[in-house]
Amino acid sequence: MFYEPKNGHGLPRDPFKALVTPRPIGWFTTLNQDGSNNVAPYSYFNAVADDPPVIFFSAGGSGQAKDSARNAAEQGEFVHNLVTWDLREKMNATSEEVDPGVDESKLAELELAPCELIKTPRIAASPASFECRYMHTLEIPQNGDGGPNLLVFGEVIGIHIRDDALEEGRFDPEAQKIIARLGYANYAVAGGTFRMLRPGL
Ligand SMILES: Cc1cc2nc3c(=O)[nH]c(=O)nc-3n(C[C@H](O)[C@H](O)[C@H](O)COP(=O)(O)O)c2cc1C
Repeated sequence: MFYEPKNGHGLPRDPFKALVTPRPIGWFTTLNQDGSNNVAPYSYFNAVADDPPVIFFSAGGSGQAKDSARNAAEQGEFVHNLVTWDLREKMNATSEEVDPGVDESKLAELELAPCELIKTPRIAASPASFECRYMHTLEIPQNGDGGPNLLVFGEVIGIHIRDDALEEGRFDPEAQKIIARLGYANYAVAGGTFRMLRPGL
């Protein structure tokens, strides 16, 4: 089949996200204006540079900006926490669309821990967390009526790795059971890995 997304796909469900898989899950802690915590997952998320290390996430256009995008811009900082198999249900619970100011860490009974360089806390049970300084937001207008997609970029200025998540100095995503998003309601757990060296390296 061939389709132009702006004209619809004619399938029961939009296949777009299932065609870009597996997607890593950015699990963001941010601070609301009143200092309370906000937690939410985003799978339009990735690392885009390593010097300096930069990550981004994209908040879909809706009536109003999603809390994570707004908080990151307003506070100038945010934290990404890796999601493991053991944390999957809690991660999912934090995706509930609740009023701004509702602390999803309480909904999901998540313990938070302080960061080193910024005020925003990290998720204590995550095997690794990135402390990020907000850089800028790129707005991509929607085809529809809603507000723009907001692509939030941040420089990773501090990285926490739990000591027991390092084996002989290496972080092993398979051993940590890092999860990723597939299409529809499907997820993958890191596994089935293989090694392949680039030519000349
Ligand atoms: C695994 C997963 C990935 C998600 N990825 C995105 C995403 O990339 N962009 C987005 O706008 N919403 C995404 N969502 C939905 C948001 O998590 C949801 O809208 C949430 O309420 C946003 O919270 P916030 O307003 O506190 O930032 C995702 C949900 C789940 C469960």
